Amino acid sequence: MLKHLVSTRQVNTEVLETILAEAAALEAQYRENKLPKPLTDKAIATLFYEPSTRTRFSFEMATQRLGGLIISTESAAQFSSAAKGETPEDSIRVISGYVDGIVIRHPAKGIAAQVAEVSEVPIINAGDGNGEHPTQALLDAYTIKKDLGRLDSLRVTMVGDILNGRTIHSLLYLLALYPDNRIRLVSPPQLRLPAETIVSIAGNFTDITEHETLDDVLPYTDVLYVTRVQEERFKEMGLEQEYEQLKDCYIVNASSLDHLNADAIIMHPLPRLNEIATEVDADPRAAYFRQAKNGLFARMALLKLLLT
Ligand code: CP
Repeated sequence: MLKHLVSTRQVNTEVLETILAEAAALEAQYRENKLPKPLTDKAIATLFYEPSTRTRFSFEMATQRLGGLIISTESAAQFSSAAKGETPEDSIRVISGYVDGIVIRHPAKGIAAQVAEVSEVPIINAGDGNGEHPTQALLDAYTIKKDLGRLDSLRVTMVGDILNGRTIHSLLYLLALYPDNRIRLVSPPQLRLPAETIVSIAGNFTDITEHETLDDVLPYTDVLYVTRVQEERFKEMGLEQEYEQLKDCYIVNASSLDHLNADAIIMHPLPRLNEIATEVDADPRAAYFRQAKNGLFARMALLKLLLT
């Protein structure tokens, strides 16, 4: 079905529906303490050149809960032989001789696809710079399906750093697989997707429009997908001052909730800074912590698909 997962552009509806159904089955078994062990005798390496809380821990927990083994390095730029100048390709050539799958996060866009070319085992992209974060999109799709019962006919408002938000890029490709989705992208002009990217995906949606004001679109929203302005991407380009000007460009707070439909959900890949006030957390529409938990099941399902 799939060898590697480096982009959600590789995913079709058959693959996605298989993963979502498997995630639901594994979640039910997890809740009944009856998880199977399909990864017995399988080993995963998690190789993270950038920080992570959710992605690395949930992949490692998913592997162990399904009976697999883990080897791991966080801060790989410092704690692997990358510190001595080893290229990611050489690291992958070596590590792929030790394990059955590799989960990699790296600041360079396109690196997962690059190392997949030299890997003997499946490569899973856990975030490549401002490129993609496909496994986040799987858990986002799982969350939307669980909470709203569908992945079609949705009004999805994405807010914040549309340009650098890799989770947004990956989720857009999945939403494009289903009919009648309407996308609203809310950002300052500096944080918009390039026009050619919008043009390339526009035909897959009923409509896709860009906005600068959030309150105007809140009433026309089923999924409010909020993102952090990605400070690390500004730092890489020496644009710290611009980051300071943009970082709090949108803040979802208690008064935003008044504009949002009762059955809408608020998502965020996390970590959040100021863009969702903590006063929103108690609202039943705030889905972001259950979304993070869903990562365990979506990643279990993906590991089972790729490794067994
Ligand atoms: N959503 C996400 O990728 O979180 P982490 O950076 O903590 O893995």
